[in-house]
Amino acid sequence: MQARHAASDYAALEGQRGGIQIAFAMVYLALALLVLLSAVAVGFWFANRLVEPISRLVVASERLRDGDLTARVEETASHDEIGALSRAFNRMAGQLEEQRGELLGANLQLDRRRRFTEAVLGGVTSGVLGLDAEGKVTLANGAAMNLLDSRGENLVGQELERAVPEMQPVLLEARMRPGRIIEGEIHLGSGETARDLLVRVARVSDAPEPAGAMTGHSEFDRERAGFVVTFDDISALKSAQRMAAWADVARRIAHEIKNPLTPIQLSAERLRRKYVHEITTEPEIFERCTDTIIRQVRDIGRMVDEFSSFARMPAPVLRQENLNEIARQAVFQQQLAAPGISITFSLPDQPVLIYCDRAQIAQALVNIIKNATEAIGTREKMDGAGGQITVRVRVDKEGRIILSVMDNGCGLPREIRRRLTEPYVTTREKGSGLGLAIVRKIAEDHGARISLQDLAETEEALPPGFDGIGANVQIIFPAEICEAPGHAVNGRESDMSGKDISPRVAGISRQVQDGA
Ligand SMILES: Nc1ncnc2c1ncn2[C@@H]1O[C@H](COP(=O)(O)OP(=O)(O)OP(=O)(O)O)[C@@H](O)[C@H]1O
Ligand SMILES: [Mg+2]
Repeated sequence: MQARHAASDYAALEGQRGGIQIAFAMVYLALALLVLLSAVAVGFWFANRLVEPISRLVVASERLRDGDLTARVEETASHDEIGALSRAFNRMAGQLEEQRGELLGANLQLDRRRRFTEAVLGGVTSGVLGLDAEGKVTLANGAAMNLLDSRGENLVGQELERAVPEMQPVLLEARMRPGRIIEGEIHLGSGETARDLLVRVARVSDAPEPAGAMTGHSEFDRERAGFVVTFDDISALKSAQRMAAWADVARRIAHEIKNPLTPIQLSAERLRRKYVHEITTEPEIFERCTDTIIRQVRDIGRMVDEFSSFARMPAPVLRQENLNEIARQAVFQQQLAAPGISITFSLPDQPVLIYCDRAQIAQALVNIIKNATEAIGTREKMDGAGGQITVRVRVDKEGRIILSVMDNGCGLPREIRRRLTEPYVTTREKGSGLGLAIVRKIAEDHGARISLQDLAETEEALPPGFDGIGANVQIIFPAEICEAPGHAVNGRESDMSGKDISPRVAGISRQVQDGA
């Protein structure tokens, strides 16, 4: 019975075995799946941990590439390769940022220096040219272009030796003697635009000087070397030198000649007085000869006086004078000497009171008017134009007093225009060439300057009847000439004794200006 029960239980259990086996299999499968999923999740987590710093590095590198030099990655404390890579990346980015900052700073400084150099070059009166190794102009400042006149235009890019052949010898010498500054004087142009220039050429190397480099350049540097050419207009200086030299010559000649003149003249006079009655054969020849000696000696004496008056012009004695009055008197004198010429005035109604040396200003004006009458004489010979001279006094906007003498003569000679105020420069057969030199000296001694223009180029309104041919010679006095001088004009002491009446004078000047 028991056995039967056991058998039936066994059979029942045997019937359930399949289901239990399936249940076990299911549980096993579920567990295996769970383990697998956990393993995948752990794998993913691990992989992510590994890749994340690298992707951060990738993102940061992208930012660097786009120019954001502040990009950094988070550094971990780990000592693995990724940690080392992050630290190296951050160091590299830091250095890049620092170097860019330095570069920007250097660039800014260079830019500032360039602008400063440009401002300096633009402001100096000397011409400055930069040349490359082939002698082509790479830089030219404003003064260089002005001093070279028409040749200064479009100079950059041209070979200097071709554009200005006069500079060739100086440049050649600079090429042959590197390391030295070569200096030379050249004469540019002709006629009105003629100029004397003092040129200096220095050689510069393009290659940056390495730190601690020895002085002296390699052959390579020499080949690459360019030049800096600087030049100044020394025409005025040369003119002043010539003037000084002439004044010196004039003084010496005057001194050497004058001494024996008086005894010669006295002796000739004495000869004639004493022996004219004793000469029995052809006394008229004796008389004519002694007369000639006396006359010629007198002429030489006059010439010598002219020399010395130029060389030893006395310092002006300044007093308050009415310029209109001086002009009237000078014209009166000259009108007598040139009766065929009509001399007119254009003077302000009010007196123009200036502090000047009356005699010297009158002498200057007489010289100018004399030149004008001579220029008219020259033109009359040519086309018979009726001579006309106008003497004008006016006050310009800046308060300067302008004394101008306009004539309808032949006009100023073009070729030597710049040199007309130098001594002994003349186009007239009988001229001494001292007239305008004396005018210039008088003007300069009064702090004024002289201007020579053809009527065609003058800004001054032409008087009625003028046909545009002729000259306009001006003495331009500074506004201060109206004021009582403190103590000196042009460095010389004056013996001015007048009281200070400058406010009145200034008022008059203004009235004149309004009325002119
Ligand atoms: N108004 C003018 N018109 C034309 N040319 C002039 C005039 N004034 C001066 N000149 C020129 O300037 C030159 C120099 O003049 P400057 O008065 O110095 O000497 P000069 O008249 O030749 O001689 P000097 O005056 O000593 O007798 C003259 O020879 C002349 O050619
Ligand atoms: Mg003259």
